[in-house]
Amino acid sequence: MSDNTPDPLSKRAAELLAIAVTVAREAADTARSMRAEGVSGVSTKSTDTDVVTAADRAVERQVIAALGALRPGDTVLGEEYGGTDGAGSVRWVVDPIDGTVNYLYGLPQYAVSLAAEVDGVAVAGVVRNAATGDEWTATLGGGAYRGRRRLGGSTQTDLAQVLVATGFGYDAKRRAHQAEVLTRLITRVRDIRRFGAAALDLCLAAEGGVDAYFEKGLNPWDHAAGGLIAREAGLLVGGLDGRPAGPDMVVAAPPAIFGPLTELLAELDAAGGP
Ligand code: IPD
Ligand code: CA
Repeated sequence: MSDNTPDPLSKRAAELLAIAVTVAREAADTARSMRAEGVSGVSTKSTDTDVVTAADRAVERQVIAALGALRPGDTVLGEEYGGTDGAGSVRWVVDPIDGTVNYLYGLPQYAVSLAAEVDGVAVAGVVRNAATGDEWTATLGGGAYRGRRRLGGSTQTDLAQVLVATGFGYDAKRRAHQAEVLTRLITRVRDIRRFGAAALDLCLAAEGGVDAYFEKGLNPWDHAAGGLIAREAGLLVGGLDGRPAGPDMVVAAPPAIFGPLTELLAELDAAGGP
């Protein structure tokens, strides 16, 4: 194979990314235009503050239909409708609106997040801020981009100087534990940010808009695309104590910061509590 010939996985990832981008753009258009018409169909899920709107459901149905037409053998895992049946090697993971509370309030920080996994590994991902049109993409081994600009993440090496984004779950007991962790973390880092959309937080970390991000309690659709984008920007993405990123913890940080930050988070029991 010559140096210029893409290997089969890269080619496949690029093809899946092209589909992801097309589908995510159409989905983001729907989210934005539904928001312009006014939020409707609001109900709650796991707690009284965990909201879902007609747009969350409509956007996910649109993504499932579009992928079904373009890639009929694939399966889809989404936040609102769960998993579709099938046995193909490609699974799409979608959060139709990440940042639903921002969507509810009209804060311009909500996104469509769509990743393609092959045999359980994310190989292509797109996150599109539906309010602003900003878009981040990545393919496995192919780098991360905001539009056409390749991303490299923060070069910060001193934990005390790190600006850290994070988020909170919807359950009051979990939030209380997360707040306790923050009261002890905030004296050890530059500052904390809470923007309200995990996928966008990961993209911000990927482009160095914050130095690092962590959160306990994420679901696969929150971090499938953003995690790949952060990783491809050169960040380390994982859990605590050498575990992979998962429901207990997702940390994304530049290599020099990942070790000290995960050690501090472990000391503060950030993956613990309810
Ligand atoms: C939530 C957002 C939020 C994060 C929560 C997520 P949703 O997703 O990403 O920033 O802190 O953990 O559940 O409900 O807006 O899709
Ligand atoms: Ca969501």
